[in-house]
Amino acid sequence: MSTRDLNKPVVAILTTSDRVKQFKGNRNNFRDIINRGRELGHLVYVVTVRDLKLDERTVSGYVPSASGKLWYSISVPLPQVIYNRIPNRNEEEKAPVARKIAECLEHEHIHLYNPNFFNKWNLFEWLKESRATAKHVPKTRRLRSAATLSAMLRNHDSLYLKPESGKAGKGIMRLKYREDTSLPYRLQIQSDKKNTTYKAASVERLWARISREKGLTRYIVQQAIGLATFHGRPFDLRVLLQKNGRGAWGVTGIGARLAGSRSITTHVPRGGSVEEPATMLSEHFGTEQAAAILKSVPATALLLARQIERASETTLGEMSMDLGVDEAGGLWFFEANSRPMKFDEPAIRKLSLERIFQYSQHLARQSKP
Ligand SMILES: Nc1ncnc2c1ncn2[C@@H]1O[C@H](COP(=O)(O)OP(=O)(O)O)[C@@H](O)[C@H]1O
Ligand SMILES: [Mg+2]
Repeated sequence: MSTRDLNKPVVAILTTSDRVKQFKGNRNNFRDIINRGRELGHLVYVVTVRDLKLDERTVSGYVPSASGKLWYSISVPLPQVIYNRIPNRNEEEKAPVARKIAECLEHEHIHLYNPNFFNKWNLFEWLKESRATAKHVPKTRRLRSAATLSAMLRNHDSLYLKPESGKAGKGIMRLKYREDTSLPYRLQIQSDKKNTTYKAASVERLWARISREKGLTRYIVQQAIGLATFHGRPFDLRVLLQKNGRGAWGVTGIGARLAGSRSITTHVPRGGSVEEPATMLSEHFGTEQAAAILKSVPATALLLARQIERASETTLGEMSMDLGVDEAGGLWFFEANSRPMKFDEPAIRKLSLERIFQYSQHLARQSKP
């Protein structure tokens, strides 16, 4: 059993309450964070938006039992640092949740970072603002009309259609134009479990189908990048970036995800697999160039992360990033996530837990503006 170091900040993992399970979110992840924090001398607990009462001296928090299977409610001091794990956008948008986040941001002493989920359209807008990051951004527009689609098809014969607030590949479509057939527009739709393909003779027919598919959900349309492949399947790089004990961005780790045999994305729940980046890159580029490409990833990812943080006008402490590698070895930004899912690679996982507390210590030393 480790002892608490009173010089180290109290850290609360913030989530929302759940009628059946006490609180929402990934319990295994929370348990790992709490256990690592304790080993490092911190008091760490899970707190719900409902229980986090900023004007009281103590709050009611949750900690896991020794086996990690049960969670107990205990009375604990207010946190100095809040690790935001509000589980999804629906929860984040609820008025009491938004109000609590705002209260934490305004609080005299409490530090909360990563206040919001990112929106895909905003990310691309932010990265276009700086020349250094713009070159890693695929051509992207908001998908509002058949005219936008036609305009994009004039310059690109393959496009990705993605929900602005999407995740895990949900709702993603890929469109391909093939001149020499009677049904030249080919739309692949990725829904919950299956992939459907729809072929159309005209943009009008195509647009009718896309409109039906997307309903009222906001979408972006994006140039498809011709990705380097491994055994004929596309892969992308997943980068975890976190701030360290000096409050500076660093790359915690780089993983790779290889697409499932018939999937248009690389997500593990859709048949994708966790792979070694160097192995993925070596097939297409050879060992030497693969190493050079991999070496270029941290600098590019850091550039992108800093620009995202600057443009978001919020304090960020971590993000994960999906980067594509084209056939020439160029790096392309696909998305960043402000609530990174846990990385399964053991070395990345281990460091990621430590970084949370290193950055917490940095934050706790800062006085708020
Ligand atoms: N413009 C693109 N060109 C090529 N592949 C893409 C493009 N956009 C997305 N993908 C593929 O689809 C995956 C999911 O896209 P992403 O934007 O990360 O959406 P999600 O939020 O659903 O994860 C990416 O990891 C990549 O493999
Ligand atoms: Mg993604």
